[in-house]
Amino acid sequence: MSRTVYVNGAYCPEEEARISIFDRGFVFADGIYEVSAVIGGRLVDCEAHLARLERSCGEIKLALPWSRAELIAIHEELIARNGLDEGGVYLQVTRGAADRDFPFPKDATPTLVMFTQARNMTSAPAAKTGIKIVSCPDIRWARRDIKSVGLLAQVLAKQYAAENGAAEAWMLEGDVVTEGGSSTAWIVKGKTLISRPLSQKVLPGITRQAVLAFIAESGYAFEEREFTLAEALDAEEAFITSATSLVMPVVSIDGHSIHNGAPGPAAIRLREIYLDFARKGGALG
Ligand code: PDD
Repeated sequence: MSRTVYVNGAYCPEEEARISIFDRGFVFADGIYEVSAVIGGRLVDCEAHLARLERSCGEIKLALPWSRAELIAIHEELIARNGLDEGGVYLQVTRGAADRDFPFPKDATPTLVMFTQARNMTSAPAAKTGIKIVSCPDIRWARRDIKSVGLLAQVLAKQYAAENGAAEAWMLEGDVVTEGGSSTAWIVKGKTLISRPLSQKVLPGITRQAVLAFIAESGYAFEEREFTLAEALDAEEAFITSATSLVMPVVSIDGHSIHNGAPGPAAIRLREIYLDFARKGGALG
């Protein structure tokens, strides 16, 4: 079934969408993206995703010609035109099309592409069974706080995971877990949730931010620190968060069972709280 997508000011069937071969997103990965979840036909925490988009674009000196309100309106129009109930909206902005040359072009107009993806999230079977993780070296660049479209390292990590029967890869720097290929990594020890601090080494997850706001309600404490793979293997529980997985229990890491191979209570509780929040459209007060 053909979707209606958005390309540079126009809504069109996906087969008709066109981007120049000179687009700097295509040639240099000179662009930024965001993925906002949609649940019950409503955007979840879209303002927070757009705030991160603005920050990422600022970090690569890409001036955004669209206001947040304009971008939200395009998101909502795509959801309506595609009758999307559950899934996500992908947004990509690039520095535009110009003859291939590394420095920024003087007169290029940024490219804006957006499309919807239907995805079963609230009742994803994986949330009941939990997912498997494999670890691999983190071979990414030094500015992972920028949501760059340059995702080859994550493509390779997640392909490695897929080839090994896992749904996600945890990338390692030395023996420290940096984050998932497309998610934030968490472990649980006793009644404490552990996830690493924000820095240039990780993407500041919007779902992470929401979960942190629910810590008190969940009955868990939070310790913001790095953790090693050995600690994760020894943890009582592990889980990931992202706009596509929401809160997802991890039941095995590198073939080693976590929480006896079943989703643990922290992940189950946080997922419940997150779903409740997401169904109301998100947005932290
Ligand atoms: N990825 N870390 C990385 C490397 C990510 O790519 C993502 C999200 C996250 C979680 O961020 P958030 O909670 O804001 O979704 C952490 C998106 C979903 C993707 O690339 O499809």
